[in-house]
Amino acid sequence: MHLLEVEDLRVTFGTGDQRVPAVAGVSLTVDAGETLALVGESGSGKTVTSLSLLGLNPPAPAGTTTGQIRYRGRELTSLSRGDWRRVRGAEIAMVFQDPGAALNPLLTIGTQVGDAVRAHETVSKAGARKRVLEALDLARLPRPEEMLGRYPHQLSGGMRQRAAIALAIAARPKLLIADEPTTALDVAVQAEILAMLDSLRRDLGMALLLITHDLGVVAGHA
Ligand SMILES: Nc1ncnc2c1ncn2[C@@H]1O[C@H](COP(=O)(O)OP(=O)(O)OP(=O)(O)O)[C@@H](O)[C@H]1O
Ligand SMILES: [Mg+2]
Repeated sequence: MHLLEVEDLRVTFGTGDQRVPAVAGVSLTVDAGETLALVGESGSGKTVTSLSLLGLNPPAPAGTTTGQIRYRGRELTSLSRGDWRRVRGAEIAMVFQDPGAALNPLLTIGTQVGDAVRAHETVSKAGARKRVLEALDLARLPRPEEMLGRYPHQLSGGMRQRAAIALAIAARPKLLIADEPTTALDVAVQAEILAMLDSLRRDLGMALLLITHDLGVVAGHA
């Protein structure tokens, strides 16, 4: 059984004359522990495809999603909002191009990553703190203890993306979607983040759906 199997996914926004097809028949499979790259020109529907895998596209009438999304053999498209919440983060998680999209500017890194752990597990305060430090360490943030009390604006762009990755892996998802995770970063940091995602995949046995414009990245990582 594939970890993820998407069949003929179609997403349309709007109704009547204003209908905009955003995803027009995407099929793909991702196996446990593998990296699959998703490549396509700007506006071709890569981000909308990713959001579909998290149940985050606008519901009807604003949007229409059809097709099948099977995760470990289970059909996700018919899940209730509550069931989606149990999948999101704990099974499938996402890292965005702009780390600001994932981080709340008003909360410390420690609080946000802690909330992500506690959203899916019942852990003691000390247990949660340990899990947060682990996640920050896995995302290779320097001096994790010090990061706990920092706010997103107190981090560099590269560190913010590491914090967003720590947040995404905090509940140990089996599939991580990385939507152009390094586009906003300078070249040296890009290489470090991609190498880190690669080792996370190996160490946590996670599959990676990597969205990128860079065919060099595809050749090297997927
Ligand atoms: N919420 C929405 N409402 C209406 N149209 C949308 C919405 N989200 C995306 N679209 C449209 O869907 C299409 C696909 O967008 P999407 O963001 O998935 O492209 P992309 O492949 O990720 O592009 P890029 O490489 O620039 O990130 C675009 O035409 C976009 O304008
Ligand atoms: Mg996009």
